[in-house]
Amino acid sequence: MRLNNLQLINFRNYDNLHLNFKRNINLLVGKNGQGKTNIVEAIYMLSFGKSFRTNKDKEIIKFGSENLYIGGNYLKNSSKGLIEVAIGNNKKGIKVNKIHIHKIQELLGNLNVVIFSPEDLKLVKDGPRERRSFIDKEISQIMPKYYNYLVNYNKILIQRNKTLKNRIVDENLLSVYDESLANYGAYIYVLRRDFIKKIAKISNEMHKKLTGNNEELLITYKNQINLTDEDTVKDAKDKLLSKLESNRQRDIETRMTKYGIHKDDLNIFINDLDVKLYGSQGQQRTASISLKLSEIELIKQEVNDNPVLILDDVFSELDETRQKLLVENLGDVQMFITSAELAHKRIFDESETAIFYIDKGKVTNIEDGGN
Ligand SMILES: Nc1ncnc2c1ncn2[C@@H]1O[C@H](COP(=O)(O)OP(=O)(O)O)[C@@H](O)[C@H]1O
Ligand SMILES: [Mg+2]
Repeated sequence: MRLNNLQLINFRNYDNLHLNFKRNINLLVGKNGQGKTNIVEAIYMLSFGKSFRTNKDKEIIKFGSENLYIGGNYLKNSSKGLIEVAIGNNKKGIKVNKIHIHKIQELLGNLNVVIFSPEDLKLVKDGPRERRSFIDKEISQIMPKYYNYLVNYNKILIQRNKTLKNRIVDENLLSVYDESLANYGAYIYVLRRDFIKKIAKISNEMHKKLTGNNEELLITYKNQINLTDEDTVKDAKDKLLSKLESNRQRDIETRMTKYGIHKDDLNIFINDLDVKLYGSQGQQRTASISLKLSEIELIKQEVNDNPVLILDDVFSELDETRQKLLVENLGDVQMFITSAELAHKRIFDESETAIFYIDKGKVTNIEDGGN
């Protein structure tokens, strides 16, 4: 999959910009605050229909303008497509191949984009909440109905916790909530289990490459119901329901729901060492990279084409060996790499590379054949 070009009109600090991209490496180079992330933000919008930096569409319209336009031609499984996003008058219109779409689900999956930011380097070191959010985003990208299960589960969880906070707790109501929580929770448990099994395998392979075969990365699903590989959705439901019921009195005392998918996490080990607790900072970062990049391979397996990879300010965070390994191991993935300096240009000597110098919303494109 690749993005061939991008047109921006009144987007952030760009008036009217038209860029043609290379199939391999596109370096966006410039000092801070010049507009590098703005460009990858626009690319992300073509994939997800929204920004990764703000929920307020108005913020991304160029100051003093009324409307913005983002357009990009892409190639997926060797067929061409055009995605266009227009925002103005508090409205957003999205077209795929000139046809208006009405639901974000119809946009998702046309152009698959994986974005990697500096915060992702903390994935392993961060708390369970960040890892759950990583898992949720990844599965939702591949399977939109997962997102619905999650929304429903969370709604019911909020209501159950509210009920637990009442002076007199209505246990009949709790039984109703338990049933629904166990129902949605069961689907989520099983989908998370299957997803984690897949990314565990891929990220271990990635990790071995990144560490010159010195480290084994073992990732497993940490859940409170001892979900086995063989458990069906029905089994998962029974297990959660019985946990909720046997723990009800304690939940009433503490006024919180102790069991469920909202407590899930990942166990992450390197050579039998719990990386979250005992890993060095370098190990934690490398494990985060392996985990995050496993998403690329997984999308490739699920949709039969490589996603487009955005590395926003992370590339220069890696040492040269890891930079090289990363580029070599990703194969035919189109990359957009933002960076303040061009120091790592030689890493890409073998690839078809375009360099874009960015200065106050003006872009100078230097075509670079590679050698
Ligand atoms: N809606 C907007 N209209 C005009 N300029 C904007 C808008 N939003 C952000 N900017 C400008 O974009 C610049 C930041 O761009 P960004 O891509 O984040 O920089 P960087 O190159 O550091 O990644 C700032 O100069 C900011 O003033
Ligand atoms: Mg930036």
